[in-house]
Amino acid sequence: MKKILSLTAIATAVLIFSNCSSSKKAIAAAPAKFNYETNVQAVIAANCAPCHIPSKGGNKRPYDNFSNVKADIDEIIRRIELTPGTRGFMPFKGTAKLSDSTINVFKQWKTDGLLEK
Ligand code: HEC
Repeated sequence: MKKILSLTAIATAVLIFSNCSSSKKAIAAAPAKFNYETNVQAVIAANCAPCHIPSKGGNKRPYDNFSNVKADIDEIIRRIELTPGTRGFMPFKGTAKLSDSTINVFKQWKTDGLLEK
């Protein structure tokens, strides 16, 4: 009888622990949504300065803030996907497109719902 009880206890413990680790995995597997502060801000600072960053001396439409970038996201994506040399292409006078992964930051942010943080 004692043997059966301790076997049951071990089996229960194994079940609990295995459930525990699989639920942790499920949480880790859900990718975080892109947001302005974590994903977009730095990409703009790196690629759209100084022209769109007033504190860097830019006098074009400011993209140093969440609300302007959110409001213009469709136009931003349209322009960074143009062929270099085409009218409206951004970054202005650039000779190469941003990398696919950088362009994807803007697209994924839009897909995820244009969150601020
Ligand atoms: C070298 C300066 C420069 C850089 C760098 C630059 N831009 Fe621009 N941007 C301009 C100029 C000049 C204009 C106005 C002329 C035009 O509309 O094409 C403009 C206009 C725009 C507009 C239209 C804004 C409006 O008022 O309707 C968007 C959107 C834009 N840029 C996005 C970007 C993005 C996104 C980046 C970075 C990936 C970027 N730009 C980098 C100079 C720049």
